[in-house]
Amino acid sequence: MNILDIIAKKRDKQELTEEEIKYFIDGYTKNDITDYQAAALIMAIFLNGMTDRETTDLTLAMSCSGETLDMSTLGEVIVDKHSTGGVGDKVSLILLPLISSLGVPVAKMSGRGLGFTGGTIDKLESIPGYRTAISMEQFIKNVKEIGISIISQTQNLAPADKKLYALRDAISCVENIPLIASSIMSKKIASGAQKIVLDVTVGKGAFMSNIGDARKLANTMIKIGKLANRETVCVLTNMDEPLGFAVGNSLEVIEAVKCLKGDMPEDLKEVILALGSQMLLLAGKGENLDENKNKLLENIENGKAYNKFIELVQRHGGDISYIEKLDKLPKAKYIEPIYSQTSGYIHDINAKEIGRLAGMLGAGREKKEDEIDPAVGVVLTKKIADKIERGDVLAYIHSNDMQKLEEAKKYFVQIVKIKEEKIEKPNIILEIKDLGTAP
Ligand code: URA
Repeated sequence: MNILDIIAKKRDKQELTEEEIKYFIDGYTKNDITDYQAAALIMAIFLNGMTDRETTDLTLAMSCSGETLDMSTLGEVIVDKHSTGGVGDKVSLILLPLISSLGVPVAKMSGRGLGFTGGTIDKLESIPGYRTAISMEQFIKNVKEIGISIISQTQNLAPADKKLYALRDAISCVENIPLIASSIMSKKIASGAQKIVLDVTVGKGAFMSNIGDARKLANTMIKIGKLANRETVCVLTNMDEPLGFAVGNSLEVIEAVKCLKGDMPEDLKEVILALGSQMLLLAGKGENLDENKNKLLENIENGKAYNKFIELVQRHGGDISYIEKLDKLPKAKYIEPIYSQTSGYIHDINAKEIGRLAGMLGAGREKKEDEIDPAVGVVLTKKIADKIERGDVLAYIHSNDMQKLEEAKKYFVQIVKIKEEKIEKPNIILEIKDLGTAP
């Protein structure tokens, strides 16, 4: 077998065998297959697709490309959560301590920003001292002792996905159903999750821009979950505008902490309750979704979720004084308001463009080696359907560079669309899919 034949086969729209997929994943993990060969094959997959069988084989090959974790020693069901990516998506920072405070153990491996989307690990690292790279022993110990640990994907766990994830980002091959499905499910399988709740984002700031593709992605991941014996539920959520108000790493930590203290934007609250109630259901902590939502709200109100977040940060070496006094977190040199030039109703705040704007300010990476600036980003003051008067503040831009600030201000004005006609608030929770509803 050789990689040139495999690339040619996919280039010519033929189906790859299980052995060929394994050969590719093995060779790429061991560096026997080069980045340019892998890039050619990934581009061929992107253009010509994969069958469900190929996607499952790719997932399983990636999931055992390194070590796998056995969480059964914890003696409790591990229910994991993952998002297909979004802008302003700080859900994990809020939902995971919340779930843990209700007695569901959380062992979560998160990612960094990809393309125009943000990543939980970059956000956590804006808390001084928080260590996202710890040993597997420490990871499991944290889960046993405090019921939660959130770390970055280690070199050893699904290393093939780690390499391919960075490669796809560098060659514009992120938005693809088999590649996203296999990337997410391989990590979840390798990290020992027994049950999985997936936030499948749909819209302008998501990798799936329409509901049809999002359904296909959800169905593919549910099928892979079934084959791998991991019950999987997908919640399809709207990502046309950023989730919540803040976009940028420490800005999102600030918003997340406020949410944990009860001050939650409506859209973020809906997503957290929808995902959280499903996680409690899968964990065997409650059959009734409405009751589950009430339990979640109760642990926000009584402070247990916030306390769990503090415990998590402390356990990972983070300095909790930055959480207790949020204005200690990294702050940009320039924070400037943007005023509306017209009156009317907000019809669009394109999440992808806002993600790009935050990236341009330094909140994301162009190349995988790039350092990110934790302090910069955008904080919106309005959301779609809000009424706006001329002269009202639309958002604040946080920048450490005057020239970038000026560019961002011009860019922002082009992104936000204001019209005279009233519009309805968009639906946030679009659909819920599980084994019973996936074809
Ligand atoms: N999140 C992942 O883990 N992988 C993808 O490919 C996209 C989002």
